[in-house]
Order: sequence, then C-alpha cells, then structure tokens
Amino acid sequence: MKLSDNKATLSFSDGSPSIEMPVYSGSVGPDVVDIRKLYGQTGMFTYDPGFLSTAACQSTITYIDGDKGELLYRGYPIEQLATKCDYMDTCYLLLNGELPNAQQKKDFDYLVTSHTMVNEQMQYFLRGFRRDAHPMAVLTGLVGGMSAFYHDSTDITNPEHRHIAAIRLIAKMPTLVAMAYKYKIGQPYIYPKNSLNYAGNFLHMMFATPCEEYKVNPVLERALDRIFILHADHEQNASTSTVRLCGSSGTNPFAAIAAGVACLWGPAHGGANEACLNMLEDIQRMGGLAKVGEFMEQVKDKNSGVRLMGFGHRVYKNYDPRAKLMQETCKEVLQEMGLENDPLFKLAMALEKIALEDDYFVSRKLYPNVDFYSGIVQRAIGIPVNLFTGIFALARTSGWIAQLNEMMGDPEYKIGRPRQLFTGPVARTVKAIADR
Ligand code: SDX
Repeated sequence: MKLSDNKATLSFSDGSPSIEMPVYSGSVGPDVVDIRKLYGQTGMFTYDPGFLSTAACQSTITYIDGDKGELLYRGYPIEQLATKCDYMDTCYLLLNGELPNAQQKKDFDYLVTSHTMVNEQMQYFLRGFRRDAHPMAVLTGLVGGMSAFYHDSTDITNPEHRHIAAIRLIAKMPTLVAMAYKYKIGQPYIYPKNSLNYAGNFLHMMFATPCEEYKVNPVLERALDRIFILHADHEQNASTSTVRLCGSSGTNPFAAIAAGVACLWGPAHGGANEACLNMLEDIQRMGGLAKVGEFMEQVKDKNSGVRLMGFGHRVYKNYDPRAKLMQETCKEVLQEMGLENDPLFKLAMALEKIALEDDYFVSRKLYPNVDFYSGIVQRAIGIPVNLFTGIFALARTSGWIAQLNEMMGDPEYKIGRPRQLFTGPVARTVKAIADR
C-alpha cells in the first residue's frame, strides 16, 4: 500500500485536541484511513458492527468492484478464468499469484491428485454421526479432525508446512465431502481415482458404486469445475474473515479451515444456495409461477421475515458476475440432462425478472448472487440440496488457505482482537443470596 498525499483529520466539538491520520491507497478500490493510533491518541475506539466500513487487512488476492459487478482473482476477471482455465489453474493462481505454465500445471495437478486419499482411520469419525446428520456438521468435524493426522504440517509459521497443508486440504476436501454423502445414503465410500481430473474424480467418488463402471459425463464435469472456480475466493467475506481471525492465533491450518466451514454453513452466507432451492421448492408447492406475485409481496413485507434467498449482497450493488456465469452453466446442464423445462429454473428466471423490475429491489440494489442459480444446477447434476454448501466449502478451501497463508506470511500480522462499546452494568457488589 502507498501513503497518499491526502490526510484525515479528526476533530472533536468538546475541544479535545484533533488528530491527523494517514490515508493509504491500494492498487485499485477505496483508500483507507489508518486508525491504528486512534485509541492511543484519543482513548476512543471506532464503532463498525458488521464491518461495513472497515478494511481488516491488506490483500493481493481478490478484488471486487461491487458497483461495476466485477470480480478479479489476482487481477484476472472471473469471466476469463471460468471460460479459459480450470479449477486447478485457479487454485495455483490463488496460492502463487500467477497462472501456471504447462510444466507447472502438470506438476501441480499431479501433486494434488496424489494427495486425494485420506487416512483410513478418518472413516471411523463418520460412524459417530447419525446417518441423517447434516453434511456440514460432518464436514466441520472431518476437517477439524484432519489436524489429528498431519502433525508434520501444522506449524503455520513454517512456509513449507503451509504449502503441504494447502495441497492436502485442496486435495482431500472432495474425498471428505463425498464420504459425508456416501455415509448419509448408506453406500460404501469410493476411493479417489488418479486417472480422473479433479471434478471428474469428485463425481466418481459421489456417484460411482463398486457394482458397475461409472462413466464421468464431460458436460457435468465441466459444469462442476466451473462451479468450483466461481466459488473459489471472494475477498474478506464472513468465512474468510473467520479463517483469518482463527488462524491469527497461530492454530493449525486444518482447525482454521474447519472454522471457515462452520461459518459458511449459515443461510446468510454459504447456506443460501440450500435455502434458495428450498425457497423455490416451497413456491413450487404453493402453486409455482401463479404464486410468485404473492411471494414477492411477502418478501417486501418487513414483518414477514421472508427474504428472497440468493438475492442481495454486502458488496455487489450490481449483478454478481458469478450469477450470470452460473445461469449459463445452468442452461448447459439442464439441456444435457433433458431438463430444459425444469419448473424451478423457469420459476427462478421469473423471480429474477420481477425483482429486476420491482422498485423494492431496484432501490436497494438487490441482484441475484452466486447462490441464486447454483442450487438448480447442482440439483440437476444429482447433488442433494443439503450438500450444496459442502460443495461451496470444497471450492472455497483454495481461497481460504490462500488468504490464511497470505496473512501468516506477513511479518507484521498480529493476533486479531477487536474491542467493544460496553453498555452493560458497571462495577457492583455481590449480595448474599438471602438478600437477592
Ligand atoms: C454469499 O460476502 C460475500 O462475499 C459472500 C459470498 C461469498 O462468495 O463469500 O458472496 C457468498 O454469502 C452470497 C450471499 C448469500 N446470501 C443470501 O442470498 C441470503 C439473502 N441475502 C441477504 O440476507 C442479504 O442480502 C445479505 C446477507 C447477502 C447482505 O446483507 P447486508 O449487506 O447486511 O444488507 P441488509 O441485510 O442490510 O439489506 C439491505 C436492505 C434491507 O432492507 P432495508 O432495511 O434497507 O429496508 O435490503 C434488504 C434488507 O431487508 N434485503 C433483502 C434481501 N437482502 C437484503 N430483502 C429481501 N430479500 C433479500 N435477499
């Protein structure tokens, strides 16, 4: 970051001395006011619940221009990565800052492929769960449990350990997600197959059985690979901020990523794709297109507590570029699966059309986000609704680990420890129970 000629001055109406704070600029996007000395100089904190106006770190990984609806991974527009690269290229880019050349790609693909198995003991973790446990509960446990197996890569301050842990996490997440699915449906686990690529191997582990040859459908394989690319990273969203804050204590990377999995589960965040599909199915059950108007009235009624899931975003105040790409993928997969007339897709398109013309949404700059179409395409691929967020976590692992490693690689990083505005009871004396 570079020091700007601009300065920020904070003055107080009660005559307290004003202070001057430096302003820094990044390569693109809003400047920042450096308030690190504020408390020391004024005895005051800033107040910003939800961090609407707070930059928690500097980063070189992902940039979003919410007004333009732009998303860049290491400077490359998501539209180019989604059409010209695959998810392994994207992982390499997020981790290393540059796209791989042919040899680097060959080596990276081989490195990830040859780490896709998990320790045989991990299957016994699953037995402790009920078969109807939510896959995200299982995944949170499995990812955290990885730290019990890889003591040779848990020193987050060691760059070599960080690299090995990154490869292990990216390589093993598909295996763990597929194991959570197989456990739930009572089928045997399918081992990774090194002759398949990343997305194809995941499809094979999910849908193959020991009883017959499973042939990976190239259209579904490409669609899944694109879903992984679109979900790989997204600046300092809630789960990435969780991973950074958790990792800032120096804990091992598996524990920090498990914290990210747990945060992503929430319906306001990564759980929105599951919530969005459930919403579409509810509307379908209520009467489908005929009921869309009534449903939208509920959404606009604050007291209903009903939200249009898959719509709105803290940063995007224009169309989420991932939603456009996801809609395209949706059409390709529905066509491949002979589901061109899928009623839920038609319902989603109708909801989007109404929302994009309705002042409630237009005035609040609410557009479809990545979760609006991702559920429909995953359902068409055969992925169960309650596994959608697990797929999101699988894909986001590359972004989480890149962000964690960026933080740990910064000699200036400190343990995160926000303060508060205390509004509770001031000091008081405990009374004897007879007097309470
Ligand atoms: C992801 O941060 C990331 O980058 C996340 C993510 C990533 O890749 O990591 O992009 C992934 O989490 C996408 C978002 C998925 N969540 C949903 O689709 C759930 C539905 N959306 C919302 O709950 C909401 O839009 C958020 C949580 C996404 C954003 O919330 P904000 O920025 O805190 O905005 P807000 O809740 O204050 O909403 C502003 C206004 C409010 O109305 P007013 O009080 O101004 O009258 O818009 C309304 C909200 O009521 N609003 C909605 C709405 N989203 C916001 N009204 C109806 N339906 C919605 N979906």
